[in-house]
Amino acid sequence: MNEEIIRFGVSMPKSLLERFDEAIKRRGFAKRSEAIRYLIMKFIYEEEHIKEDEEGIGILIVVYDHKEKNIEDRIVDLQHEYLNEIRANLHIHINKRKCSEIIILRGKVSDIKYFAKKLTSIKGILYDNLIILH
Ligand code: NI
Repeated sequence: MNEEIIRFGVSMPKSLLERFDEAIKRRGFAKRSEAIRYLIMKFIYEEEHIKEDEEGIGILIVVYDHKEKNIEDRIVDLQHEYLNEIRANLHIHINKRKCSEIIILRGKVSDIKYFAKKLTSIKGILYDNLIILH
C-alpha cells in the first residue's frame, strides 16, 4: 500500500519529551515516529474493538502514595460500591512510600471504565493503567 505519509507537530513540555525519548530508547524503538505509531495503533485497537455495552474483564493497576491522607480508605470505599464487578484485588507494597493495587473486575465495559475513572481521580494516585479484555 502506497499511502501518503503525513507529518504533524506535537507540543509538549521539554522534560516530558526527554523522558519519552529515554523510554523509547529503552524499549528499542529506532525512531520517535515509530514509537508514536505503535502507541496510536494500540490506542485505536482498544477504541475500535472494545465496545462500551459489552461484557469484559478489566485489570486496573494503580500506584499511589500511601502517605497521602485517607487514600487507602478512599480506594477501599470505592471498591465497596462495585461489589458485583470486583472479582479480585492484589495489594503490593512497592517501597516505604509507594503501594500498588491491582483490581480485577468483570462487568459492562462502560462500568469498568467509570470505576477506573473514579478511582484514578483520587488525590495521591501516581500511575494508572487499565487493561480491558473481552
Ligand atoms: Ni502497601
